[in-house]
Amino acid sequence: MENIHPIFDRILQTDQKESLVKQRSLVIWMVGLSGSGKSTLARALENALYERGFYTMLLDGDNLRTGVNNNLGFSEEDRKENIRRAAEVSKLFSTNGTVTICSLISPTKAIRNMAKGIIGDRYCEVFINCPIEVCETRDVKGLYAKARKGEIKDFTGINSPFEAPQEADIEVRTDLNTEEACLEQLLDKIVPRIKFDLK
Ligand code: ADX
Repeated sequence: MENIHPIFDRILQTDQKESLVKQRSLVIWMVGLSGSGKSTLARALENALYERGFYTMLLDGDNLRTGVNNNLGFSEEDRKENIRRAAEVSKLFSTNGTVTICSLISPTKAIRNMAKGIIGDRYCEVFINCPIEVCETRDVKGLYAKARKGEIKDFTGINSPFEAPQEADIEVRTDLNTEEACLEQLLDKIVPRIKFDLK
């Protein structure tokens, strides 16, 4: 940080931006295995919030990997950097008043703690919980089949670790509930936190 002189305290503050867009910002960090339903629920949530008048940004792991994260793979080091950048970008959006929905596997507790550390109080962890057997049966992208054939190394849940969150703020089971029911659970918990009130 030598020779760097940040001006965070002299630029418009988050509560000023929130007053402008009439909402409280939050980073909704969706964690889960490939095929668990993260992207589906992230999209459904963004649409539902849009219909209710909330201003959002959706950051999806696969999307980010085509741009800001396009030089990263799936080694432990690269996943860490992937999550670090996603968290820093989320922080920028949330400090600007935007409700930010992130959908990334975020496989380890250490990686999630890092994201939480970067984002701070606005970090809201959502575990999109689905047993790996069900994700593998769905295999929407055909990646589990490839991983089983040895065609993808370091595939989460097969030959790369996934540590299920133990203390998520919200947890939904996508194998036991419909998409609509999961979305309702998310909205019930999230809408009160992003509603604008003059406190
Ligand atoms: S994370 O582990 O670094 O959080 P991220 O969410 O960005 O992962 O990317 C996961 C997506 O990349 C998956 O949804 C899948 O489409 C794709 N993918 C390609 N290779 C792998 C792999 N080895 N492990 C997991 N996902 C992979």
